[in-house]
Amino acid sequence: MFRNPLRRWLKGGQYRPTVMVKELAERDRRRMLKHFLALERGDRLLRFGSYLGDEQVAKYAQGIDFSRDMVFGVYNRVFKLVAVGHLAFAPKETKKSATEKERVAEFGVSVSKSARGLGIGSKLFERAAIHCRNNDVDTLYMHCLSSNQTMMHIAKKAGMQIHRDYGEADAYLKLEAANPASMLQEAVEEQVATLDYALKANTRAAAKWLDKLPGRKNKL
Ligand SMILES: CC(C)(COP(=O)(O)OP(=O)(O)OC[C@H]1O[C@@H](n2cnc3c(N)ncnc32)[C@H](O)[C@@H]1OP(=O)(O)O)[C@@H](O)C(=O)NCCC(=O)NCCS
Repeated sequence: MFRNPLRRWLKGGQYRPTVMVKELAERDRRRMLKHFLALERGDRLLRFGSYLGDEQVAKYAQGIDFSRDMVFGVYNRVFKLVAVGHLAFAPKETKKSATEKERVAEFGVSVSKSARGLGIGSKLFERAAIHCRNNDVDTLYMHCLSSNQTMMHIAKKAGMQIHRDYGEADAYLKLEAANPASMLQEAVEEQVATLDYALKANTRAAAKWLDKLPGRKNKL
């Protein structure tokens, strides 16, 4: 039987589509904001550690510094941003850290409700970890509520050390140094995701253009 290499097969014949993780930039900020604003109250609490209203969410999205931090995203088939992972870098003295490196990184992630359970959150985490390795950061932190069972599962699966305290959990992962394979993996993943992004963006633009043609009745 022919098996599409872009689909990962699971036990029982179900499949998960391959997740294309793309580095986000200034041009994606508006869609990032839309993604964050669409998170329900409970999810905002899990994502930001406290309930943020729309104004605070907008401030957070506006404040992301793409020149300092790395933001990853996943676009769905119709070019909707369905997941955002924010890897924030900080000098090590701002964290109690045993690392010898100059910087540490902290990761925060959210996946739209409609796209959960497809491996997107895990893939964003993996991509953040490999990016740290390739950028001389050997300690990746994550802060979340200990009641966040899905995130706890992802953290444990990744081998993170988890410290729970008063309903909150601090998790960290010690990373190996970069090697040619980790460098190549990140570069290839980004190249493939860039092609995928361009294809989806162009298809979306063409669909919008066709939709505006006079006399066109069937909306795409
Ligand atoms: C946490 C979150 C990012 C996960 O995204 P996702 O794309 O659904 O995650 P994945 O599909 O990669 O993985 C989910 C894993 O958790 C498991 N899981 C789901 N619900 C679970 C639960 N209640 N208890 C334990 N594990 C659970 C799934 O079985 C899956 O495990 P597997 O890959 O070993 O099969 C998403 O739920 C989310 O955005 N939540 C709100 C914001 C948030 O909590 N952010 C994290 C704070 S930093």
